[in-house]
Amino acid sequence: MSKTSTLSLTEGPNATRVVGFGSAQGNRVVTNDDLARIVDTNDEWIQQRVGIVSRRLGEDDQTVVSMAVEAGSKALADAGLSPAEVDQVIIATCTMPGPIPNAAAQVADRIGIKASGAFDLNAACAGFCYALNTASDFIRAGSARNVLVIGAERFQEWLDWQDRANCIIFADGAGAAVVSPAEQPSIGPATLGSAGDMVDTIYLRENRYIYQEGQTVFRWATSEVAPVATRAVERAGLRLSDVDVLVAHQANLRIVEAIARKLQNQGARDDLVVARDIVHSGNTSAASIPLAIDHMRSAGEVNSGDVLLLVGFGAGLSYAGQVIICP
Ligand SMILES: CC(C)(COP(=O)(O)OP(=O)(O)OC[C@H]1O[C@@H](n2cnc3c(N)ncnc32)[C@H](O)[C@@H]1OP(=O)(O)O)[C@@H](O)C(=O)NCCC(=O)NCCS
Repeated sequence: MSKTSTLSLTEGPNATRVVGFGSAQGNRVVTNDDLARIVDTNDEWIQQRVGIVSRRLGEDDQTVVSMAVEAGSKALADAGLSPAEVDQVIIATCTMPGPIPNAAAQVADRIGIKASGAFDLNAACAGFCYALNTASDFIRAGSARNVLVIGAERFQEWLDWQDRANCIIFADGAGAAVVSPAEQPSIGPATLGSAGDMVDTIYLRENRYIYQEGQTVFRWATSEVAPVATRAVERAGLRLSDVDVLVAHQANLRIVEAIARKLQNQGARDDLVVARDIVHSGNTSAASIPLAIDHMRSAGEVNSGDVLLLVGFGAGLSYAGQVIICP
C-alpha cells in the first residue's frame, strides 16, 4: 500500500508592485562615426535604418556581473530597501561568458544579499519581462518577499566587429527593478509566448558571433508584437487608451515606432509617450526595458502612477508583455 503524505503550502499576498529602478551602462560612448572607422557604414545609414546615434560599451572590467551589481544596488537604494530584505535575485541575460557559473549568485553576494535564491533566466531580449513576471508570481505564491530583477548584457564579445549588419546594433548595459508585495496590483498578468519555428532567424554562429536575418525579424516584430502588447493590456483589465507610456524592447527605433503606430491605430492615445532610449543606448537586449524606464524617470518623462506597457521580444523567438504602474 502506498503512503499518502500531505504537504503544507506557502501563500503570499495577492498583489505586487515595482518599488525601485536602477541602471548602469558601459563607460565608452561609441558613435556611428567611430564605427565607420572600423566597418563600411555611415552615420546616415545607421540613423535611418536603426535610429541609433551612439551606444555605450563596457570597459574591460565592466562585466555582466559588475554592471548588474551597479544597477541592482541603485534599484535597492531607490526602493529604500537594504540587501538583507531581499530573498531572491533573478538575472535575465544571454551574454554571460559561459553557461556556468551563473551571474545571479555572484551579484547577490557582491551586493551583500546573503544566501538568497539566485538564478539566471535566458529569454534573450524578452528576458526582463519574463523575469519580472517570475518575480511577481514568486511573491504571490509566498516563495519570496522582495525580489531583485536585473536585465544585464555585455554584447561586445559576441559581435563580429567586421559584420556591419550587427556590430552597429548591440551594446552593453544593465537595468534593475525591485519587486515587493502590494495592497493593490501594480504588476499586471504577463502575456508570454514563443515562435520556436523561427529559431533560425537569430542565433550564434559556430564562431560564437551573433547572426540574424534582419528583414525577417523586422517583419515579424512589426506585425506580431503589437498584438502581444494589446493582450497584456486586456489581461490587466485596462484599455489601450489607459496606457501612458510604451516601453518596447529597444531593438530598432523603426520597430518601436511601428509598434506604437499600430497601438495608436487601435485606441492608444496620440500623446502616448514612447521610449526611444535606443538612440543613445543601442540595443542592450534584456537590459533595454528597465534601462529605458530608469532613464525616463530620471529625465522626468515618466512619473509615479503612470501606466507603463512593457513588451520584450527576441531570439527564440520568445516574447512577453505586461502592464506595470510606475513607482
Ligand atoms: C538589421 C537591420 C538594421 C538591417 O536593415 P535593413 O533595412 O533590413 O537592411 P538590409 O539587411 O536589407 O540591407 C540593405 C543594404 O544595406 C547594407 N547594410 C547592412 N548593414 C549596413 C550598415 N551597417 N551600413 C551600411 N549598409 C549596411 C546591406 O549590405 C544591404 O546592401 P545591398 O542592398 O547592397 O545588399 C534591420 O533588418 C533590423 O533592424 N532588423 C531587425 C533586427 C532586430 O531588431 N533584431 C533584434 C531582435 S532582438
